[in-house]
Amino acid sequence: MDSLQNDRKWWKDEYVYQIWPASFKDSNGDGWGDLGGVIESLDYIKELGTNIIWLSPIFDSPQHDMGYDVSNYEEVYSRFGSVFDVEALIKGCHVRGMRLLLDLVVNHTSDQHQWFKDSRSSKQDPKRDWYIWKPARYDENGNRHPPNNWRSNFSGSAWEWDEATQEYYLHLFAKTQPDLNWECVAMRQAVYDSSMKFWLDKGVDGFRIDTITIYSKDPSFPDAPIQDKDSPWQLASCHYRNKARNFEHIAEMNEKVLSKYDCMTVGEYGPTYDTDLALRYCSAAEKRIDMGFQFETVYTGFGKVDKFKAQPVAMGDFKGSHAKWQKFIEGNDGWTSAFLENHDLPRSVSRFGCDSPEYREVSAKLLAMMEATATGTLFIYQGQELGMTNIPKDWTIDDYQDLEAQNYYNAVKAATGCDGNALASAMGGLRQVGRDHARTPMQWSNSPNAGFSSVKPWMRVNDNYREINVADQLADKNSVLSFWKTLLKLRRKNIGVFAHGSFTYVDDSPLVMTYEKKFNGEVALVMLNFTSESQPIPLREEWTSTKPLIGNVDKSEDQKLGPWEGRIYVK
Ligand code: GLC
Ligand code: CA
Repeated sequence: MDSLQNDRKWWKDEYVYQIWPASFKDSNGDGWGDLGGVIESLDYIKELGTNIIWLSPIFDSPQHDMGYDVSNYEEVYSRFGSVFDVEALIKGCHVRGMRLLLDLVVNHTSDQHQWFKDSRSSKQDPKRDWYIWKPARYDENGNRHPPNNWRSNFSGSAWEWDEATQEYYLHLFAKTQPDLNWECVAMRQAVYDSSMKFWLDKGVDGFRIDTITIYSKDPSFPDAPIQDKDSPWQLASCHYRNKARNFEHIAEMNEKVLSKYDCMTVGEYGPTYDTDLALRYCSAAEKRIDMGFQFETVYTGFGKVDKFKAQPVAMGDFKGSHAKWQKFIEGNDGWTSAFLENHDLPRSVSRFGCDSPEYREVSAKLLAMMEATATGTLFIYQGQELGMTNIPKDWTIDDYQDLEAQNYYNAVKAATGCDGNALASAMGGLRQVGRDHARTPMQWSNSPNAGFSSVKPWMRVNDNYREINVADQLADKNSVLSFWKTLLKLRRKNIGVFAHGSFTYVDDSPLVMTYEKKFNGEVALVMLNFTSESQPIPLREEWTSTKPLIGNVDKSEDQKLGPWEGRIYVK
């Protein structure tokens, strides 16, 4: 095991920049970001210090779930460009010493994929069992019901009735995203060929693997335990997350495809909070994937059954979870990732920092320090490097584009008969943890449309683009962007202790995070004040003569950390 654990694969010390294609940069003036915009921005990404790009889905799609509903794995959505543009992007990355990861979305396809069109065409179709079809249940009055009470992750039943063939199909997400049947060997082979080999053979360097824990479902499709008494539809993840068969599927995917290429894989664990299960995916000896995204830390304060019944972040919970996942690969052969944002999460400065004008910059820098000293491969989401914030509180449901948000709002409306209080609390949830916050157009400059596009963008631009944008921050050596650049260089210099070091808290404050990291005789101390008040410093004797490597405020005091102040020491 030891030799594997110490195996410094190229991706371990790297930084990944995630791009949400629709909102990154519009190069041809149609209001949508596109591959041309990504190609134009490669030097920007490289200069930030990030050498790997993860591109969220660019495949052909009706865009009901922003491309996480793929209708053809081998074509590119026309507004994003073409397969030729992806080839140009691969080349553009490789000449700069950069790499490109695509998103692998194979728990489900779009209902517009030819595979599903065939599957739904008749019960005798050879692709019928490529998806999950079940007969209806009938009650004593002869009323038709879905096969079980499973809830879709995007509200409502997880089953949709198909008139033509008189059966239900399963969709754990939207009804336009039917789940593939991973029990079907021919389907699995088609997935490997069409969604993986097709792109790996073109030179793509790996994948971020969508919803990797839920391909296998309990074959008896039992009802889920009732946790929400007010709804007929119940959270059913106990019947489809991390099933024994799922580990077999991922091992096969590795054996048949991934192992044949020098590629990198990062899987989305979602709400998998058991570190033993997570390790089974990322253990080098088990040969499945290289690392995953654990969501326990970033989901701090999300509602357990209904994610939108969210609370502000309780620092004690956040701290505890962070330590758990920092330590999770200590002494074993797993690997992990460090991230605070992605396209499904609120902006980190609004969630874990403070986005008021007074503290936005300093707290965005504090979070950057937390991430830049974290164990694992580092991931930055577009705009995070600027300290982009959640969308303003006065935006209404009409400004929210995400179908998860729209479905949720409509479900609350229907269930409560448009009750004003219920709708206000639904909006409250969306304002805290909705996915739209991360999806507003990238703020490039203070020109109209934030310099993202020459025309009105597909999604409203955050009103604060005049205060927060790339052009201003490039010119300002004290900006959040400049701070990230410096930090990423410092991480690179001290990559052993930050990316690979062991983690220990040296305080027990619920307001401050103070930890040491140790690696091969090097020691780092990180102190982060997660409040808008000064806090006493728990600096121990042995550190008093060491000067900080970096801090996020101009003037600091010996005995205390100012509001949102952070410091990093190394010796
Ligand atoms: C993942 C994606 C998310 C998408 C869902 C369904 O969680 O990150 O954006 O909606 O899978 O594919
Ligand atoms: Ca465009």
